[in-house]
Amino acid sequence: MKHTFRTAVLLSLGLLLSPALHAQQAARAAASGTTDDAKMQRFIDDLMRKMTLEEKIGQLNLITVGFDVTGPVVSKDVDVNIRKGAVGGVFNTYTPIAARKLQEMALRETRLHIPLMFGYDVIHGHRTIFPIPLGLSASWDMTAIERSARIAAEESAADGLHWVFSPMVDIARDPRWGRVAEGGGEDPYLGSQIARAMVRGYQGTDLTKNNTVMACLKHFALYGAAEAGRDYNTTDMSLARMYNEYLPPYKAAIEAGVGSVMSSFNEVNGIPATGNKWLLTDLLRQQWGFKGFVVTDYTAINEMVAHGVGNDAQVSAMALNAGADQDMVGEIFLKNVAQNLKDGTVKQEVIDLACRRILEGKYKLGLFKDPYRGVSEKRAKATLMKKEFLDDARDIARKSFVLLKNDKQTLPLKKAGTIALVGPLATRQRDLIGNWSGAGDWKQAISVEQGIRNVAGSAVKIVTAQGANFTDDQQMIDRLNAHGGELNVDKRSAEEMIQEAVKVAQSADVVVAVVGESQGMSGEAASRSDIGLPGPQLELLKALKKTGKPLVVVLMNGRPLTLSWENQNADAILETWFSGTQGGNAIADVLFGGYNPSGKLTATFPQSVGQIPLYYNHKSTGRPFNDQPLDKYKSRYLDITNEPLYPFGFGLSYTTFTYSKPELSTTTLSASGTLDVKVTVKNTGSYDGEEVAQLYIRDVVGSVTRPVRELKSFQKVLLKKGESRTLTFRLTPEDLKFYNNDLQFVAEPGDFQVFVGSNSRDTQEATFTLTGN
Ligand code: BGC
Repeated sequence: MKHTFRTAVLLSLGLLLSPALHAQQAARAAASGTTDDAKMQRFIDDLMRKMTLEEKIGQLNLITVGFDVTGPVVSKDVDVNIRKGAVGGVFNTYTPIAARKLQEMALRETRLHIPLMFGYDVIHGHRTIFPIPLGLSASWDMTAIERSARIAAEESAADGLHWVFSPMVDIARDPRWGRVAEGGGEDPYLGSQIARAMVRGYQGTDLTKNNTVMACLKHFALYGAAEAGRDYNTTDMSLARMYNEYLPPYKAAIEAGVGSVMSSFNEVNGIPATGNKWLLTDLLRQQWGFKGFVVTDYTAINEMVAHGVGNDAQVSAMALNAGADQDMVGEIFLKNVAQNLKDGTVKQEVIDLACRRILEGKYKLGLFKDPYRGVSEKRAKATLMKKEFLDDARDIARKSFVLLKNDKQTLPLKKAGTIALVGPLATRQRDLIGNWSGAGDWKQAISVEQGIRNVAGSAVKIVTAQGANFTDDQQMIDRLNAHGGELNVDKRSAEEMIQEAVKVAQSADVVVAVVGESQGMSGEAASRSDIGLPGPQLELLKALKKTGKPLVVVLMNGRPLTLSWENQNADAILETWFSGTQGGNAIADVLFGGYNPSGKLTATFPQSVGQIPLYYNHKSTGRPFNDQPLDKYKSRYLDITNEPLYPFGFGLSYTTFTYSKPELSTTTLSASGTLDVKVTVKNTGSYDGEEVAQLYIRDVVGSVTRPVRELKSFQKVLLKKGESRTLTFRLTPEDLKFYNNDLQFVAEPGDFQVFVGSNSRDTQEATFTLTGN
C-alpha cells in the first residue's frame, strides 16, 4: 500500500495503525505472553496491588548519593525517603560496602522490601579505564568494543552496580560540541554497530547473571545535533534527516535489547525530549517496540520550566504522560505527581505503567530474588583491575590510535639514542583516563613517560621538559580545576619554558611532543569555539620545529582538532585520544613498533572551524564544489576549500596497502538478489598490519536527494607483509534502503555507485543498477 505523505507522518507519529503495525503489535503481545513474561507480570501485579500511591511514585524517583570509605553519605532527607519507600534507584554509590548498606536499608526498613537499583556513569570502563568512546570507535573493532563493555560490566557488577548510563550513541557532526568525546562519531551505520556491541557487552545474554549490568541508551534523542555545537542547545531537523542520519544507532540498541533509555536535555522540534510524547512513546515504544524503562537526564524535567513549556506541576505531568518513567535527581515527580493525579492532569494508569516498568527493570536484573547479586569485598578484590583486564585495556587502547601522518617513516622509533619528551601531557596521568572516567583512579594510569620507560627500558635515554602550560587562559584553567582538572600552572614565562624544551630537543635524536587538550576541555559542558591546539602548545611546536630534529606529535584530545600547521610541519602525528589506564604503555607500544597502528577516524577533522559542520556523508547541492578557485558560483568558501584536513575513515599504518578495483558479481541487482563486491587488498610495505577496508555507496538518483557517500560495510583484516587477500562484501537491496519523505523505508530502483578503499575519500569505484523486481 502506498501511503500519502500525511498518512505516513501520522503513522510515524503513531496516530494511525497500519495493518502491518497491527500485526506487529499482535506478534509482540503474543511474544510477551511467554511464561517468563507472564510470571514477571504476575509477580508485579501482586506487588503493585499492595503498593500505596506514594510507594508507586517513590519508584519513579532516582537519587544521587555520594559515599566515602565507610559507606554512603546519606543526608537526613535521603535516609527518610529511602525508609519510606520514596526512592526507586540510587546513582553514584558503589563499592560492596556502600551498596550493601543502602540495599539493606531498603530491604529491611521499607514496608514492602523492594530492592533499590544502583546506577552509575560507567562510560568507558569502571575501574579499568578504556579509551574514551570516540577513541574506541576509531578501532572499528567490534570485538574490542564489546570486550571493553564486558569488562566494565564485570567490574561494575562486582562493585555493587546494576545499571550503567551507557552507551551514548548520539551522532555528532560538530566537534565544537565537547560530548563528541563520548560517542562513536558521525556515521549512523558504524554508530549502530557500536551500539549493538556495547549493549551485548554490558548485558550479555542473561541479565539475571550477577556479572551483567543493564545498559542505558542515551541521550534520546538528537542530543548531538545541538545548534552551534553548544551543549544543551536546541535541535530542529526534518523527519527524513532524523530517521536516516540520527536515529539508526538508537534503534540498533533497542533491537539489541537495551534495558533502559535516557531522555536527553535538548528540545526536539520545539518540544523538550523529556516531555516529548512522540519521541518517548510513539517512536520508541510503538514503532520500535521498546519494552524497558525511560529515565530522564539529570533534572531534565525541572529544566523544562526554563525551556518554556510550563511550571513544575505542568512539566511533571507532561513528562510522565510523554513516557518518562523515572526522574533523575529533580524530585519533580515526588513533589507533583500525587497532585497531578488529583488535578486530573495524569491518570492512575500512567503512574502505574511507569512504576511497573521500573519494577520490571528490577525483576529482569533478578533483584527480587538476589538483591545483593553476590557482591562482596572478596569478589571485588578478585575482579577489579585484574591483570587480564589491564592487558586487554592496553591492547584495546593501541587499536584506537590513529596515525595521521608519518613522513619518511619517522615512526616507529628505534629503541636507541636520545628522545626529547616534551609537552604538557608527556608526564600527566590525570588526563589519560579522560572524563566520565567512572570510578577510575587516575593515579593508577600509566603516563607516556612511564610507558616509554617500560617499553624501551634503558636502551633509550629520555630527556624531558614540559615546554608549555596547557593554555595561557587562566579562566579556562580555573574552570577545569573547579571540576577535577588537577592542573598546576608553571609560573615561568612561556619563552623560558620553550627555551628549556628547545635545549632538551637539541640534545636529542628525535622529539616526541605530547600535546592536546586537558581532559576537561572536552566532555559535558565543554564546548569550544576554537578547536585548535591552545596557543602556548602551538608556539612550543613551532620552536621545536626550528631545531630541525624529527618532530613526532602525540595528540591527546576528546574531539577532532584543527591541525593545519601541525599537519604541514610535524614529521609524524599520532592521535591517541584519552586512552585510559594503560594509555602510556599503549602509546609506547605504538611509538616503538610493538603494535602497528590501525585506527581510522570516525569523525571528520576540519581544516578550519569555519567549515563546521563538516561530515563525509553530506548532500551534493546543485552547485557542487570543485577545486577551480575562479569558478565563483559554487557551493564554497572564498578563503578555504571544502575538503577536510583528514576525512572520515582516514588512518595510516607503518605498512602500506593497495586495493584492486572492486569487481561486482553482477551489475544488476534484483529486488530479492544479492551482490558481491570483491576487492583484493595487498600489504605492500614492510610491516605486518591491520587495515579497515571500507565500502560506501551512492544512490545516484533518488526521489529525495541522497548523500554523496554512505558507509555500508567494512572489514578489519590483518595482513602479513607481502600478503594479499580478496575480501567479499555482500550487498542486498536492504542495504540500499532509506526513509523517503513519506517515511517509508525503501530501496529505489536505479543506478548506484559503490566505492571501496581505505577511507571515505581514497576509494575506487564500480557501478550497478537495482532493478524494480
Ligand atoms: C549527563 C548524562 C549522565 C547524567 C548522570 C548528565 O549530566 O548528561 O550523560 O548520565 O548526568 O550523571
